[in-house]
Amino acid sequence: MQILRCTPKFFDVTYVINPYMEAGLGNINKTKAQEEWDAMTKIYDELGVDYKVIEGQEGFPDMVFTANAALTFKGPNGEKNVLISNMAKEERKGESPHIEKWFREQGYQVHKLPEHLSCSGTGDILYNADRSFLWGGHGFRTQPETHREVERITGLEVKSLRLVDPWFYDLDTCLAPITKEIALCNIMAFDEASQEVIRAYFTDLIELTEEEGRNFTCNSHILADRNLIIMNGRSPRVIQALEARGFQIRVSPTDEFLKAGGSVACMKMTLI
Ligand code: ARG
Repeated sequence: MQILRCTPKFFDVTYVINPYMEAGLGNINKTKAQEEWDAMTKIYDELGVDYKVIEGQEGFPDMVFTANAALTFKGPNGEKNVLISNMAKEERKGESPHIEKWFREQGYQVHKLPEHLSCSGTGDILYNADRSFLWGGHGFRTQPETHREVERITGLEVKSLRLVDPWFYDLDTCLAPITKEIALCNIMAFDEASQEVIRAYFTDLIELTEEEGRNFTCNSHILADRNLIIMNGRSPRVIQALEARGFQIRVSPTDEFLKAGGSVACMKMTLI
């Protein structure tokens, strides 16, 4: 598996587009942010995770959260395809041309959404562990109609889930499908119908407290084929629960990035 990361050179909190950013505004220690990013690099290097890096661009302080920029998928003959996000928030729209250029240079077939539909990329569209379908969040950054368009473009079913709590504005803030059975979840972040869908699918649902959720515990990097999870380490109880299920945990602190409302999962995009 390969991932795409973005350098934090221009990372900052200069506007508020989610509830976490209010406190983060003008309050970023950039040296510390760079150190956290470097420590994450060290973990990926030690683990031998294959990553590509795109340069952050001036004026786009959230570009470090590459998860939101696109969704990659395989074409019918295994071709590399990408759906570039239409970001919902005006402040982030300008990231897309940089991302699109990068994917074109890498030889991806590029797809786009109609202008009137927004999408938060792999922030709101998550692969199920067996990659046979997608989980789609809607309510804040992505519309249900976007899911139907994603189905048409990728050929994969999208199981739509409705998000109802602004503190959990992207699906990757409140759901982490780990295996076909196990998931981390902040169940109250979903409407009742979606809660039922989640409970019916995952036979071993690890439910998180509000506080664990707001510490971005779901926002972890799952390397299920290696029984490994990279997380920011703020929820010891959940680390224990995962270790008890046979997972190895690597802790990569993301304190500065949490002030922008993002953590480990947001800071990478899975590449096909
Ligand atoms: N400040 C960023 C935003 O609100 C954080 C993005 C976090 N990304 C994620 N996949 N949840 O867009």
